[in-house]
Order: sequence, then C-alpha cells, then structure tokens
Amino acid sequence: MKNIVLTADRPTGRLHIGHYVGSLRERIRLQNEGNYDEFIVMIADAQALTDNASCPQKIRDNVIEVMLDYLAIGLDPKKITFCIQSMLPALPELTAYYMNLVTLQRLLRNPTVKTEIKQKGFDDEKTGIPVGFANYPISQAADITAFKANIIPVGEDQEPMLEQTREIVRSFNRIYKKDILVECKSILPQNESCYRLPGTNGGTKMSKSIGNCIYLSDEPEVIKKKINSIGSIPRSIEEPGILEDNVAFIYLDAFATDDSFKKYYSEYKNLDELKIAYTKGGIGDGTIKKFLNNVIQDELKPIRERRHIYEEKIEDVIEILKAGTLKAIELSNETLKEVKEAMAINYFEDDSFKNDQIKKYN
Ligand code: TRP
Repeated sequence: MKNIVLTADRPTGRLHIGHYVGSLRERIRLQNEGNYDEFIVMIADAQALTDNASCPQKIRDNVIEVMLDYLAIGLDPKKITFCIQSMLPALPELTAYYMNLVTLQRLLRNPTVKTEIKQKGFDDEKTGIPVGFANYPISQAADITAFKANIIPVGEDQEPMLEQTREIVRSFNRIYKKDILVECKSILPQNESCYRLPGTNGGTKMSKSIGNCIYLSDEPEVIKKKINSIGSIPRSIEEPGILEDNVAFIYLDAFATDDSFKKYYSEYKNLDELKIAYTKGGIGDGTIKKFLNNVIQDELKPIRERRHIYEEKIEDVIEILKAGTLKAIELSNETLKEVKEAMAINYFEDDSFKNDQIKKYN
C-alpha cells in the first residue's frame, strides 16, 4: 500500500505556536523521515468560507500568509505538493456524492462541530447553522479521500473529522463494492501537552479570535511581551509553585528540551527536575518566564528568518502554490474518475452505457 500524507489549514490568519506544536512540527518530522509516496498540504480556503462567507477578502489575503508560514517552518516544496482547496473541482463533486452516505443527525453529533457551533453563535435561532458549515466534515472527507491519503498529521480536535471520513470510506466501499477509497489515521503530537495548547491568557485554546496567540512570525520583542503577559498566581518566591493549569509550564512541556537547560538553566538537567524544585518553592515566576522566553525565541528565530527570505521572493512562492495546485487537480481527478465508475455514473467514459442500452432496445 502507498503512504500518502495529507493535511490542511484554514487560511483565516497567520499560524501560531498552537498550530506548530499541534501539527506543523509533526509534518516536519514526517517530511524528514521521508517514508511516503506523496505529501500534500492543502490551504483549505473553501472550508474557511463555511463560517466566513461574508469576508472572502480575509481568506484570499491569508492564503499566502499561511503559505509563507509553511515555508518558514521548513516544509520543502521539493518534497511537498502545496495546493488551494477551492481550485480542485473534484472535491465538491466527491462531497456531493458522499452527502448521500451521511445523515444530518450524524453530522450534528460531531463533537468538534458541536463546540464550534456554540463558539460561533450558530446555536442562536436567529443566526442558525449554515448548511455548508454543518457539512464541512463531509467536504473534509473529500479532501482526504481524493488523494487516497492514509496518514493525516492534525491536531487532536480533528479526530472526529477523521472518524467521519473512515465511516464514509467504509460505506462507500461496501455499497459500491470496490475497495477504491482508503481509510486514514491521524498522526497526533508525540507529547500530550501539545494537543490543545492554551492561549497566553490561560484556560482556553490558543485562537486568533480570542487574541491570545504567539504567532510564528512575531518579532522577538512581541514574543517577549506576550510571554511576560502570561498570568501567574500571586505568591512570595519562597512559597511552593503550582503546576496545575500553569501556562508557562505547559509551554515548557511543549518546547523545552534537555539542551534548553544546558544552554539557559544549567542548575537543572531537565524539566522534571525544574518542576520538582518549583513545587518546593524558591523559584519565582519571573525566572520561569525568562527561561521560557529564551526557549521560544530559539525555536522561532530560524522560522522568522526563513519567512523573511520568502517574503522577498513572493512571486516564487505563488509559483510553488500554482504548480502544486495543478498537480493536485490531476491527482484528485483520477480518484473522482474511479469513484464515478464505481457508482455507475461514468456514462460516456467507455461504450458500456451505450452498448447496454442498445442490447436492451434491440
Ligand atoms: N479542519 C481542519 C482545521 O480546521 C482543516 C482541514 C481541511 C483539514 N481539510 C483537511 C485537515 C483535511 C486535515 C485533512 O484545521
């Protein structure tokens, strides 16, 4: 079996460190392992429009912002096919056929969709739920199956979409009696603290709409300010520190390595040692934030610098995206052709439709 990696992001803003530890870093790992036949990264503009119908310009502007973030983190255009979702006509067509395999009730039971409906105020009777929005898990199944992708590096909140995709794949293969579509599995971050990185204000997930993000492209001074703004429980230095819901420590869990300690905090060998010392008392939160700032600055510096290089050659960036999109159109059309054949709606692809009718009426 082939290994096809596919993933996507909605172009609603620049990518932040929540995206980075939740999925982007895993993509780099998969890319470097090199154990795949095709690696597709899609900019999901059509999905972004399902809850942004009235701001198309925002989506359009962020296509290149996201693309720059991809290149900045080190995704390599020689190894990866980058494409724009709305440019691939096979996707809405596949979506339309898959819609017959899923009930409305099943769509609205999707836990991620449920949470988002509340967040976006679609549960208000006057606003209502856009049909396209409720349907996006099916369109995401089209994104994945159009490439027969089996390896999907995503954040943990995407698991319900992959479950929906697997259900569609199984229904399709059962009903149309061909093993055309492929079941996919998620690749989640190796470290659980990366599943749902909280925002700098604590509590909720890092999210652009809340304004609690550290962006991959933030300048050093901005990063420092945001890290300093992380709240901490007031206490005197001698008192024991509390680790529960401690945003600075959650970020350290996601970013600090033993090397970070060698470089910036050599009193301790690793994070476990620091945690023990912190809970005994004697370490102030200012010290922790200073260390955290050093760690995050180190991680984001090369990313920001690479972004600046690509910003200088934006025409090349657009060319990469265009070439990838053209290739993705071809790949997805091939799957669509197989799907239509399995569904017996490939009327003029060969003579079988004509011959069947001639036989019947002669
Ligand atoms: N729903 C994903 C997100 O919000 C984006 C996405 C669209 C996606 N199509 C996909 C992710 C296909 C993985 C595979 O981040």
